[in-house]
Amino acid sequence: MQQKKTAETLRSARWFAPDDLRSSGHRSRTMQMGYALEEWMGKPIIAILNTWSDANPCHAHFKHRVEDVKRGILQAGGFPLELPALSLSESYVKPTTMLYRNMLAMEAEELLRSHPVDGAVLMGGCDKTTPGLVMGAISMGLPMVYLPAGPMLRGNYRGQPLGSGSDAWKFWDERRAGLLSEREWVEAEAGIARSYGHCMTMGTASTMTAIAEALGLTLPGASSIPAADSNHIRMSSAVGRRIVEMVWEDLVPSKIITAASVHNAVAVAMATGCSTNAVVHLLAMARRAGIDLTLDDLDDAGRKTPVLANIRPTGKTYLMEDFYYAGGLRALMAKLGDLLDRSVMTVSGKTLGETLDGAECFNDDVIRSLDNPVYHEGSLAVLKGNLAPNGAVIKPAACDPRFHRHQGPALVFDSYPEMKAAVDDENLDITPDHVMVLRGAGPQGGPGMPEWGMLPIPKALLKQGYRDMLRISDARMSGTSYGACILHVSPESHVGGPLALLKDGDIIRLDLEARRIDMLISDEELERRRAAWVKPQDKIGRGYGWMFARHVGQADTGADFDFLETSFGPTAAEPDI
Ligand code: FES
Ligand code: MG
Repeated sequence: MQQKKTAETLRSARWFAPDDLRSSGHRSRTMQMGYALEEWMGKPIIAILNTWSDANPCHAHFKHRVEDVKRGILQAGGFPLELPALSLSESYVKPTTMLYRNMLAMEAEELLRSHPVDGAVLMGGCDKTTPGLVMGAISMGLPMVYLPAGPMLRGNYRGQPLGSGSDAWKFWDERRAGLLSEREWVEAEAGIARSYGHCMTMGTASTMTAIAEALGLTLPGASSIPAADSNHIRMSSAVGRRIVEMVWEDLVPSKIITAASVHNAVAVAMATGCSTNAVVHLLAMARRAGIDLTLDDLDDAGRKTPVLANIRPTGKTYLMEDFYYAGGLRALMAKLGDLLDRSVMTVSGKTLGETLDGAECFNDDVIRSLDNPVYHEGSLAVLKGNLAPNGAVIKPAACDPRFHRHQGPALVFDSYPEMKAAVDDENLDITPDHVMVLRGAGPQGGPGMPEWGMLPIPKALLKQGYRDMLRISDARMSGTSYGACILHVSPESHVGGPLALLKDGDIIRLDLEARRIDMLISDEELERRRAAWVKPQDKIGRGYGWMFARHVGQADTGADFDFLETSFGPTAAEPDI
């Protein structure tokens, strides 16, 4: 280790070292908590941003795991300072955690800025906690390690493995079609979430923790360890030990997150069969690091990188626990060969290539090779056209291939309740060729892009045996969702994007190979409709939601707040003490 910092040049020394009244207050108040001077003076002080709460089942173990992190920090000669941060439970927080991702990002940045800390451990895992914590920590720029919560154990229903989200949707469709009894439904409910940890499908949580690892922000292999495995405890204390060294080495995020590591993260996302949500978060995280990642970069990577992880919902069979036993993310990254730049630095102090040395795959069906992929292209494709001039996202591998080229009439809904009433109407006049459209659900209109994009298949079609149809929205969908859903249409309808001009019966055409999504309407007619368009009212009239709608960007640039973007203004100064 090359020591670049000394006790005198630690950031926290500004609070504690000077012989003045203010510093005396800081010392005396630390002693008030029972600590002797020698326990922290001159040592790296490590913030642990812990997103534990009673309302987040995915992070239930963080209440105890944080003690393992502290143990590691103390062993390495640092001093831990646990700082609770917004928990953002995907299961409970309404209308959507995405409304609060940027709030967590602001909180993470300001917690680090305002406290006497030299480095940070970020404890997250449930969907938006990963990008929220990472975005804020990138902007602050202190040495940091991400500690992923780890996936929960696989679900179990009558001896069959159950996957978070994905199987809930499937079972619910069966229930709506009258094929599953109440007793069977309740049994599935009790079996699908068997331990703490985040969703164990390749949903947004598993995708984002894999991305954090591919960016170099976790210890090698950390993102694949199941939450309930004792390896997760040992990894937590190792994180504590490592962050103390990183402070002395001054290994800051800008030395880790580079254009090359961002492209590695994109390739890994594609190869895992990632959640569509990965797009918005990758764009936002990269831009915080000053790297201008675009939707076109993502589409390029998608065309080059096949899906290797045979994990539901993109893969057919396995879950994250199987992925871990098969060798986990290191095995997958090793198989990506030249698609990754191995020279990039990671929080371990080693290059990615060094951390992949000796990585082995123990099950070639769970982690496929490049010549036998789950899907020949990456997880996601980016569409453009007169319906989405700035782009939209689709997950081709997770939809029925007959929709890869499709043309049909639009059935348009302006709100979720309006759509809900229609899909529950057994006499709805709809054909399997129809294209269901939901608008007013984008970053500003939602607000916060709720996960409404997997519009339910209308009962009228379910009863005829149909399970997929083409759907379009400016919303997102859950990472555990599937189907022919075009999402994140940008610009969104609320700001006058072309989606706002669509009418029932207009013909929509999808051509996946050409990456096009168009409505077959003349430019003159579109101009007429645009002239008559009236901007809808914002849904939230005060407070955070009001501010959100005024400052959030569009999906194609990551839906960050304008004033948090790296390009907005000068770097925030260190606080006066
Ligand atoms: Fe927490 Fe899915 S609900 S990760
Ligand atoms: Mg989710």
